[in-house]
Formats: sequence, C-alpha cells, structure tokens
Amino acid sequence: MAGVDLFGRGADIERLDAFLDAARRDGAAWSMSGEPGVGKSALLAAVAERATAAGARVLRASGSEFEADVGFGAGAADGAFGRRPVRARPRRRRGRKIMTDATGSAISLRVNGVTHRLSVDNRRTLLDALREDIGHTGPKKGCDHGQCGACTVLLDGRRVVSCLTLAVAAEGAEITTVEGLAADGELRPIQEAFIRLDGFQCGFCTSGQLCSAVGMLAEHAAGWPSAVTADVRGPAPELDAAEVRERMSGNLCRCGAYPSIVRAVLETAGREEAAR
Ligand code: FES
Ligand code: FES
Repeated sequence: MAGVDLFGRGADIERLDAFLDAARRDGAAWSMSGEPGVGKSALLAAVAERATAAGARVLRASGSEFEADVGFGAGAADGAFGRRPVRARPRRRRGRKIMTDATGSAISLRVNGVTHRLSVDNRRTLLDALREDIGHTGPKKGCDHGQCGACTVLLDGRRVVSCLTLAVAAEGAEITTVEGLAADGELRPIQEAFIRLDGFQCGFCTSGQLCSAVGMLAEHAAGWPSAVTADVRGPAPELDAAEVRERMSGNLCRCGAYPSIVRAVLETAGREEAAR
C-alpha cells in the first residue's frame, strides 16, 4: 500500500488526480492523510467526488482528522485497511512533528439498538461519530469540552458526555441517544413532562437534559448520593429540588429553563423509574 500526504490547499487538491492515476495504475489500495484543520472538508469532498468519478472505491473517509482510503481492483477489497497502520512513518513539517493516521480502527457501535460499522481515527470522539458518521444529530455539540452537557448520551444506561468519550471506547456498549428514548412512538414520561411544563425554549440543550435526567433518575433509584445529600451512608434521599439541581448541574441551559426542568424531573421521577 502506498500513501500520499495532502494538506488541504488548492495545489494539494490538484495533486489528487495524479494520485488517483497512480493508484489506478498500481491496482492497489492507497491511503491519503492530511493535517487536521486545514481545508479538510474541501479535501474530503474532492476525494469523494473525484475518486468515485475515477472508478475507485472509497473504503474509508473521515472528516474530523482528515483521512481517506481509496482502492482500485484488488486493492478495493473490504478490509484492505482494517486496523493495520495506514502509515507508520511520522513526518516532520515546519519543524514540528505531525500526527499521522497510523491509529485508525474498524469498530462497531450499537446505537439505539442498531449496529453501525465504522472506520474511525482512534482519536475520534463518540459525539463526532454519532453526529457525522452515523447521522444522529440529537446529541449537540455545545462546548466540545465536557462543560455544558449538550452532548450527553447513555452508555449502558449511564450518562456520559460524548464529546469526551472516544468512539473506540464505546464499542460493545449499548448507546442511547435522545432519538432512542421514546419506544414505539410513545414519549417517555420525562419527554412528555418537558413539553407539558415548558422545560425548554430554544431546545439546544434539551436532548442532553433528557438523557441526563433518565440517567440521573437511574442513579437515584440505585441509591447513589449526591454532593448535597446530608447523610451519604443512608439510603438514597428523597428527591427534592436541591437534589435535582445538584444532580443535573452538569447540563447547562442558556435559555434559563431551569425551574421548569427541575419541575419536570420531580414530577416524573416515579413514573420514569417505573417505565424502565
Ligand atoms: S459538548 Fe460535550 S459537554 Fe459540551
Ligand atoms: S432550552 Fe435553550 S439552551 Fe436550554
């Protein structure tokens, strides 16, 4: 397998055709990688368009840390890239070490009961994999730093911020996004309460709030104390507004819908627990 480095500038995109010619001549799988953050979207679009037009098969393409594999003939077989390093030799450019794409993995993610097979960079976040690779845009990217909770999803029933969770680390888990909360078209009690009690305004934080509330109520049912629980050695305390505010404090709402969110959680706590 041969490789070429593209850095997203116009001249590099023009090099793509030469690259495709060479790949076709060899009848082999070729790999391209690019430095993150420099025109990767344009480059990726160019790869998809030109490679397909040239009769190549795009085996893997990731827009977050740009990388794309294309293959002609025998080199286009599934698994031509798999888990093995795409390029093992680190490169230096302008005096600094450039991360290579030597760390991609083929993984399966089970989301809302459906299995998705992906080839991802090991550094790809679960949030980007869900939104960009799988197309579940319910989890929102607010801060991308674990601060706002907009990206909250459930991993085996426990809430996590998907912007700080690696996609490769979620393999094997049951992932639930807001799209998977309702069953058979029936809203869950917490979803119905958010609507009835006006628990949102713009709705940007709502998918994270809902997933967080479901996870939080499961934690409470399992007897977990919170930072405001007076006696952490006893059974789980009654849920009151202070407990809900503390337990939901990782989910920010820039519209300030907090009073209604707390009411919705309090009103539906028992029904949510019964619904599980
Ligand atoms: S986007 Fe993940 S916590 Fe803000
Ligand atoms: S409803 Fe707008 S950020 Fe929460």
